[in-house]
This record gives sequence, structure tokens and C-alpha cells, in this order.
Amino acid sequence: MEQLLFSEKIIQWYQKHRRDLPWRHTTDPYQIWLSEVILQQTRVAQGLPYYQRFIEAFPSVYDLANASEQEVLRLWQGLGYYSRARNLHACAKSIVKDYGGKFPTTYQELIKLKGVGAYTAAAIASFAFNETVPVVDGNVYRVLARVFGIDDDILSTTGQKRFRKVADQLVPDGKANVYNQAIMEFGALQCTPANPACLLCPVEATCYAYQHGKQKELPVKIKKGKIKDRYLHYVVVQQNEKLLMKQRPAKGIWAGLYDFHLVEASKSQEWDALDDSLVSELVQQQPAVKKSKVYQHQLSHQRLHVIFYTVTVNGSLAQEPLATTGQFYSQEEVERLPKPILIDNFLQNEILSH
Ligand code: ADE
Repeated sequence: MEQLLFSEKIIQWYQKHRRDLPWRHTTDPYQIWLSEVILQQTRVAQGLPYYQRFIEAFPSVYDLANASEQEVLRLWQGLGYYSRARNLHACAKSIVKDYGGKFPTTYQELIKLKGVGAYTAAAIASFAFNETVPVVDGNVYRVLARVFGIDDDILSTTGQKRFRKVADQLVPDGKANVYNQAIMEFGALQCTPANPACLLCPVEATCYAYQHGKQKELPVKIKKGKIKDRYLHYVVVQQNEKLLMKQRPAKGIWAGLYDFHLVEASKSQEWDALDDSLVSELVQQQPAVKKSKVYQHQLSHQRLHVIFYTVTVNGSLAQEPLATTGQFYSQEEVERLPKPILIDNFLQNEILSH
């Protein structure tokens, strides 16, 4: 298909079918950046309340830069990939410190910012500054693969080059802002992964996948590696209405968030069989132990099987294991700590409601 005709048709479709979303009413790069970082984590319906809470808590990049890391992580709670929240915070600080509070205005400069990759740089450059650069997210890969019959793996180097080349040619000068929103929206609402609405599609007559019945085969995505099962046993120590919690290391899953004393084993185990010094000490005191159901939690490459053992101790605990396992927090303090959503669910279900 003639490239500009494609772009025009997509824009026309968008003008009829677009959703009314807050970040489409602004050219403020701060708001656009925030929305795009959140939307990389989740779908629009789930991302919208996060976006609204962030904008309310931090109306400007200065407010975000001046916030504590704990506040930022707490607002991010539930979105996953917490390093992205930390990058968001670091980027806001850098905008204030190194750029006088103003976002750079070009793709080439934007991509140098912390946590800003090709996708986010193109989104800010086009939505805020109307620079002629394509955004290429999962939705766009799908539309391009189908319409233009691109059968490279979207993650391969050759695939990335081919998609990029086609995408480059499609962005109309002077209309990058609307066209980029349009093609993403078209992928999200019309050219959907499982059941694309081909019969109502404005470009079906020249769509390679439609013409060849290949909607299911395109785009090509080589499967990711195997899912690993992990068995986590949490020891939840309660003392004088306070809970023992600790901050996770800066690397690995849930980096920097708060959880309980954790013992990992190769399978599900009873708590007195766990090989761990704090557990050994607790077992000697013979407190009552409440065992939770098994919570299942899916991460991108891991399936977690998690059991919580809640113990209430009256006496004191030896100092040495405590020093390495955290400190006691009141319920109000616990509420404010940034936590993995799994831990929050457990607390809501079994601790805070009692
Ligand atoms: N997903 C990622 N960016 C988006 C945007 N700007 N509008 C709607 N969905 C999106």
C-alpha cells in the first residue's frame, strides 16, 4: 500500500474511535513521560488510576524529584519492575539538577535520560514536540507485521531493523503526534492479538495478513525461556502488635521493597523443617504458628509458591538473627512501607483486618 495512504487511513480511523485519555490532552513532556513509563508496565485501564495518583501527588517534575524513594515506590506498588520506579525518580532528579527542570526537546537528547529507551524517547519527542520519529511498541509491531507481512522475530536484530525502517517511512511530517497515538490505538482496539476486527478494518484490502489468512501467525515472537518454580517461606514475626519486616536488597526481584524474614527451599516445607537460624530459635520457644494457604504469584519468568508462617512471640529474640532480619514496625508504619503486591495481599487478608 502507498505508505502515506496507510497513515492517513489510520489517522482517520483514530479520529472516530479514539479513547479520551488524560495524556492525550497535554503536550507537557513531564505528564507524557509519566504516562508512558506507567503504560509500559500495564494496560490503559489499570494504568490510568496510577497515572492520576502520580499526577496528583507530584504535579510537576520538581515535586517528584523532591519526593522520598519510599513515597515513589509506595505509589508504584502493584506495577512490578520496581527498578523502573527508581529510574523514574532518578530521571526526575536529573531533569531538575542537570536540565533546569525542563525536559530536553529532541529524541537524541531524550534517549540519554535514565530509564528512557527508544520507545519512551520517541513517545515524548512526538507527543510533546511533534518530532517526526516513529513509536514502536508491542501494538505497533503487531500492526506492521500484519499489514506489511513482516515475518522476522520482533526481538531479533534483523527484525528490529526491518520494523524500524518500515516505521520510519510511515510517520507523516508534521503529524507524528497524532499518527503515533493513532497506530498504537489501532493496535490496542482494532488489530488486537487474538481476534482482530478485520471485517471493519480500514486497511484490510491491502493487509498482507488478511489477504493470506495469517493474522494468527503474525507477528512472529520466539518464545521466552522456561518458567522457573520457586518455593518461598515467609516467617511473619509479631511482637507487641508490631511486625518484623525488612527491606530487600537493591538487586533481584522486588528490589528495595519490604517483606518478611524469607527462607527459600527447593519445595514446600513445614516450618520446623526449614533450615534457618531464626526459625530454629523460634521453634525452641514453641510459639503457636499460623500457616497460610499457598499464595501463587506469577512473575515474568518465575512462578512463586508462597507460604506465610505467622508467629507471635512474647519473650525476646536473640539479637544476632534480628540484626540481619529487620526491625519491628507498627501497623501504621507497615501500611506506609512500599511492599510487593503479594505481601500487601497477605497483610490485608490475614493481619491488618484482624
Ligand atoms: N500505551 C502506551 N502508550 C499509550 C498511549 N499514549 N495511549 C494509549 N495507550 C498507550
